[in-house]
Amino acid sequence: MHARITGTGSYLPTTALTNYDLVARGVQTSDEWIVERTGIRSRHIADDSQKASDLALAASLRAIAAAEIPAEKIDLIILATSTPDYIFPSTACLLQSKLGVSGATAFDVQAVCSGFVYALTIAEKFIRSGSHRCALVVGTEVFSRILDWNDRGTCVLFGDGAGAIILEASEEPGILASAMHADGSQHGILEVPGNVSGGKVVGHPFVKMDGPAVFKFAVKVLAEVAQEVLQKAGMDSAAVDWLIPHQANIRIIQSTAKKLGLPMEKVVTTVDRHGNTSAASIPLALDIAVMDGRIKRGDTLMLEGVGGGFTWGAVLLKF
Ligand code: UT7
Repeated sequence: MHARITGTGSYLPTTALTNYDLVARGVQTSDEWIVERTGIRSRHIADDSQKASDLALAASLRAIAAAEIPAEKIDLIILATSTPDYIFPSTACLLQSKLGVSGATAFDVQAVCSGFVYALTIAEKFIRSGSHRCALVVGTEVFSRILDWNDRGTCVLFGDGAGAIILEASEEPGILASAMHADGSQHGILEVPGNVSGGKVVGHPFVKMDGPAVFKFAVKVLAEVAQEVLQKAGMDSAAVDWLIPHQANIRIIQSTAKKLGLPMEKVVTTVDRHGNTSAASIPLALDIAVMDGRIKRGDTLMLEGVGGGFTWGAVLLKF
C-alpha cells in the first residue's frame, strides 16, 4: 500500500505588507536590505479575527475540493503549527470541528518550519501501516502574532498563511522516501522562549534568532537530507522535476539547489511574495505551482524543510 497526494489547497490572508510598508511603520530597515539578504518583497498578515484554524480551514476546503472527496472520508488530520489557536485543544481538533466532521484521529505536530515535512511523513506511515486511508495534512501559521516589531532582524522575515494536502491510500506509488531529524542541542539559535503560567506570560513570547547561525545550519542539513532521501529511493537528483524547499531565504534556497545540481528553473519559490510562513511555506508553494500548471501528475517532487528545534527533513514523492 502506498500513500499519494490527491489534492492540494492553500490560503493567504488578504492583507499584504510590503517592505516599504514596514519602513513606513517605523521598522529600521530598507527594501534594498531585505531584498538583497532574503529575497523577500512582501508577506501576508492575518486580520485580528483570523486564527491558525481559520487559515487552515480555507486551505483544507480547497484541498478537499481538489481531491474530490467528501470531508467525511478523512480519517486522519495532522496539523503542523507553532502558532496554535490555544494551548489546548489542538488546532487539528478545532479544524475538525470547523470542517463539521468528527471521529477521525486528529493531532498537532510541533516541528516549527519542518512541521509540514514531519506531518506528511507521519501521515504516510499511518497510511502504509493500514490503520488509516485518507489523511488531511496541514501547515498553518499566524507568525505575525509572535513577532517583535522592534526586532528588525526577525520581524521582516515572516508572514501568515496555510497550505493543505489530502494524502490517500493508493496502489500507485506516491511518497517514495522520507527522513526526519532533530538536534535539540541547537534549540537556542531559533526559539520563542515564553509560556503562560499562573495566568501570566512568562519568558519572552517573541521569535528570537541568531540569523547567521541558522543560515549556516540550514544550508548544511538541507543538502544532506535531500541526498539522504534520494539515496533511500535509489534515485539521483537528475530525476527531481521540482524542488519545493522551505521558503525562508532565497540565498538558502539557491545554495541548496546548487548543491543538488538543480537549476533554479526546477525550484518553486514564493519567498518573495509570502516571506517565511514556517510550517505553511512548503504546502503553500506546492499548491501555487500545482494551480499555475507547473507541477503535473507524475512529476517527481522533493519537499524539504528546516526549522527551530533544530529540526529538518525531506520527502521525495511522485505527484
Ligand atoms: O525558517 C528558518 C528561520 N530562519 C532562517 O532561515 C533565517 C536564516 N538567516 C538569515 O536568513 C539571515 O541570517 C538574515 C536574513 C536573518 C540576516 O542576514 P545576514 O546577512 O546574516 O545579516 P546579519 O544578521 O549578519 O546582520 C548584518 C547587519 C547587522 O548590522 P551590523 O552589525 O553589520 O551593523 C544587522 O544589525 O545587518 C543588520 N540588520 C539589518 N539591517 C537592515 C539586521 N536586520 C536588518 C534589517 N534591515 N531588517
